[in-house]
Amino acid sequence: NTVIIEIDCNDIEEKKLIDAAKILKEGGTVAFPTETVYGLGANGLELGAIRKIFEAKGRPSDNPLILHVAKIEDVEPLVKEIPLDTERVMKNFWPGPLTIVLEKNDIVPEAITGGLSTVAIRMPSHPIARRLIEMAGVPVAAPSANISGKPSPTTGEHVIKDLQGRVDAIIVGGSCDVGVESTVLDMTGEIPTILRPGGITREMLLKVLERVEIDNGLKEGTNAVPKSPGMKYTHYAPKAEVYIVKGEETISSEKIKELAEAYRIEGKKVGIICFDESYNEYQRDVVKSMGSRKDLKRVAANLFKILRDFDETDVDVILAEALEEVELGQAIMNRLTKAAGYRVIHVWKGMY
Ligand code: TXA
Ligand code: MG
Repeated sequence: NTVIIEIDCNDIEEKKLIDAAKILKEGGTVAFPTETVYGLGANGLELGAIRKIFEAKGRPSDNPLILHVAKIEDVEPLVKEIPLDTERVMKNFWPGPLTIVLEKNDIVPEAITGGLSTVAIRMPSHPIARRLIEMAGVPVAAPSANISGKPSPTTGEHVIKDLQGRVDAIIVGGSCDVGVESTVLDMTGEIPTILRPGGITREMLLKVLERVEIDNGLKEGTNAVPKSPGMKYTHYAPKAEVYIVKGEETISSEKIKELAEAYRIEGKKVGIICFDESYNEYQRDVVKSMGSRKDLKRVAANLFKILRDFDETDVDVILAEALEEVELGQAIMNRLTKAAGYRVIHVWKGMY
């Protein structure tokens, strides 16, 4: 049976966190909020505890987990070395939505790394996450607290829906600010490489690092296998099929209206994911706006909730507008494209 622990993150009751930390110490599983998405935590150095995470989520065992720490010093025992530029990155972006991949030490179990010689580590900034990890006194393994394949949870209710009855405790502590998972940055190669775009953007990293590449496996139109095992799985998919329409804004909304009409004639119910700027174009459909194109932080924070909300409707198809893949737009389009199973329709002026 799952214990539900409600905590107000503006007025954290230590007693409740002590209970949760005790469950972690005893080898149990606790879902908790972070600034990115909710995580499903367990003692990252104990095999039995780690196994419970994979079981609760239905996660493939070759998909490695992130170890969460409370302070930079806690990284040292887990890795072979912390190169100077990595230390600079940590000092600039931790605590925060950035995960760093380094060569692992022997104490990190292979069950965490999916057999890889590297380990992914993150120091979250959310006050509940930080205190909980500190109290647990061990590195906390925590994937997103969803059933594998579903959109990551950004509210306690999402976690309850997916994991009640499958984990020992769920801390309900409000909604997550960033809304997409952390950036995964591989620091083991010659050039720092983004394996998963997230809240810390390439543009931000370039302020502290001379060069930052994006893993080839993430780029459109390549057959390269992504270096981050998790990026190869289908993800985030709502029940309805999602299509992304890419192109100049007014042309893509014309295309979306045209496609929506065609689907309606076939008798299908159409959902639309758009931005505030074009919301009124689509009055006749189930329309959900992610926010203004000028406020990407808000868009990122809304994305997974909107994908989940569509599962509560009876739409058969979802047509989505696109963003330019720069700054936070990179992470947003990465998740949306996966939600769409890579179904992207390109439109351009000559079409009309
Ligand atoms: O924001 C986040 O990172 C959230 C919160 C809970 O911290 N966690 C999260 O974990 O998103 P998860 O397990 O859903 O995603 C971890 C990603 C996967 O794509 C996995 O393949 C990758 O990190 N990863 C983990 N260890 C790795 C490694 N050693 N090398 C490359 N990629 C790795
Ligand atoms: Mg995940």
